[in-house]
Amino acid sequence: MTNRRKFLKASAFTGIGLGAGVLTRLFAQNGSAVRTAPNSEVFKSGLVLSTWDAGIPANEAAWKAMESGGNALDMAEKGVNDTEANFSNLTVGLGGFPDRDGHTTLDACIMDSTGNAGSVMFLEHIKHPASVARRVMEKTPHVILVGEGAYQFALSEGFPHDSYVSEESQKAWKEWLKTSQYKPIINIENHDTIGLIAMDTQGDLAGACTTSGMAFKMRGRVGDSPIIGGGLYVDNEVGAATSSGLGEAVIRTCGSFLVVEAMRHGASPQEACEEAIQRIKMKHTNYKDFQVGYLAVNKAGEIGAYAIHPGFTYSLHKLGTNKVYKSASLLDN
Ligand code: GLY
Repeated sequence: MTNRRKFLKASAFTGIGLGAGVLTRLFAQNGSAVRTAPNSEVFKSGLVLSTWDAGIPANEAAWKAMESGGNALDMAEKGVNDTEANFSNLTVGLGGFPDRDGHTTLDACIMDSTGNAGSVMFLEHIKHPASVARRVMEKTPHVILVGEGAYQFALSEGFPHDSYVSEESQKAWKEWLKTSQYKPIINIENHDTIGLIAMDTQGDLAGACTTSGMAFKMRGRVGDSPIIGGGLYVDNEVGAATSSGLGEAVIRTCGSFLVVEAMRHGASPQEACEEAIQRIKMKHTNYKDFQVGYLAVNKAGEIGAYAIHPGFTYSLHKLGTNKVYKSASLLDN
């Protein structure tokens, strides 16, 4: 463990030693965190980072949005829209696995570079929940709309009712009903989210996260993906983070917010993701039974990725390439 990492563990994250000296060291005069200078090759050339292999086409769509003059927010929205529109995806959008009662319900959120955020939860029959989340952010005084209210708002904004039902998802649900037992299957049932972080040619950050959530969840269950600070957090001064995996564990530990705050206090994106996974381990005796993965980007365009189990992958579009990478993990099983 590096000295700085020891310091982070002993001070910033436990509250010990956060005296005036430490604060002076960590914070700039205006109260913002000291951060990596945005002078890297990536800064202002654009970057897209997203969860899982399915992030590759999402990254492409985000990149196209940037090339058409879009900002980081447009990139984030268009990127995840691509995944939502793919009805063969069983964990995002209307093709996703249903809840225990056979209904596919969708969660999504979006956050821009100014700290604005929008979210929809428990939304049915709308193809692009992330776009509805953007409208909540831009057109209402609220951050979150849920269920019927979110659906009615979507209709009022011109989003069409979509009655698509996935045969494959329904078949899987009927099979599940035979036992009705729930046990997450690591990296299969849990690769359940697209979380995408975009940096545009101004060096600004935004993100979006969208999912049909845990397969065969209780009706009304909402995971981390639409929760600001849970499945996604963006602070344009510091960086951004997103998560995938068992939402309950991410929510309990304010996962993406924790990652960004760790970066604010000087951690690299990689160290910050590791810190958030360690926090899950500390708070969950059963942490070996489920998967969570985090991705992070800082203002210099450096990235981090870390998961509980091996198998978490991410897609990174930067400097002319768009490739899938394997995340490091806490466990080596
Ligand atoms: N990470 C997505 C969910 O738990 O719903």
